[in-house]
Amino acid sequence: MTAVAVSQPLETQAGPRRTPVRNPYSRLPGWAYPTFVVIGLSLFGIYAVWVVFFQSKGYYAPYLSPFYSPLISVGPIPPGVWVAWAPLAFRLTCYYYRKAYFRSFFWHPRSCAVGEPKRGRYRGETALPWILNNFHRFAFYATVVQVGFLWFDAVLAFDFGGRPGIGFGGALMLANVILLSGYTFGCHAFRHLAGGELDCFSCSLAARARHKLWKGVTVLNIKHDRWAWASLFSVLATDAYVRLLLAGALRDPRWIA
Ligand code: FES
Repeated sequence: MTAVAVSQPLETQAGPRRTPVRNPYSRLPGWAYPTFVVIGLSLFGIYAVWVVFFQSKGYYAPYLSPFYSPLISVGPIPPGVWVAWAPLAFRLTCYYYRKAYFRSFFWHPRSCAVGEPKRGRYRGETALPWILNNFHRFAFYATVVQVGFLWFDAVLAFDFGGRPGIGFGGALMLANVILLSGYTFGCHAFRHLAGGELDCFSCSLAARARHKLWKGVTVLNIKHDRWAWASLFSVLATDAYVRLLLAGALRDPRWIA
C-alpha cells in the first residue's frame, strides 16, 4: 500500500502557503515515489515496445522469453505482438497501477488530501479512455491463460534435449513465473470473483471453499504493489537474459544430469 502524502497550511505575513508534500509513512521525500514510478514504467514501456515490435527472436534453447509465450509465428509479424496485448492490458487496467500512474504521471490527484495543480470536470472512469479500465476482469482471464503457458515454459526450461538439468536461465524463468503468479492471483478482481457477492461464508460447501480461496487471494492481495513491481522487473530480466544469450554476450551456467 502506498503511503499517503499530506501538505499542511503555514501562516506567513503574505498569507497562508503550503509546505512541501510530506509522506508520514516514509522517511523518503514526497517526490521519491512518483519519480520512481515515472522512471520505472517509462523505461519498461520503452523496452517492451522495442522487444514486441522490433525483435523477432526470443528463444534460446530451452529458454523462451516471457514476451513470446506462447510462441506464435505467423508471417512477418513479430511473435510478441500476438502475446503482449494481454499482460499489457492487465497491467494498464490494474487497480494498483491505475493509482500509481494517476498519482505520478498526471498528479490527478498527487495523493490523498493534497490539492491538484489543475482539475477539470471529474468524470471518473465513465468516458473514454478511462472507461476501458472497467475491462480489467477480462484482461485477468487472458493473463491467467498466459501464466499457464509460462509455467509450462518454466518446466521445459529444465529439459536439455531429453536430459534433466538446471541452468541459470531456468531458475530465472521459474522465479519469474512465481512472481507473475503472485501478482496475477492477488488481483482485486480475482479476490472479488473468489469471495464477492456472498452473504454467508459458512452456509454451504461451495461457500466454505470460496471463503478459503478468498483468504488465500487476500494474502497475495495485501502486497499487490510489491508483486506488481517485482514481476515487472523479473519479466524484463528474463527477457534481457535470453537476449544476451542469443547475442553471445553471456554463457548460461548449467548442470545437466
Ligand atoms: Fe492489479 Fe488486478 S488489480 S492485477
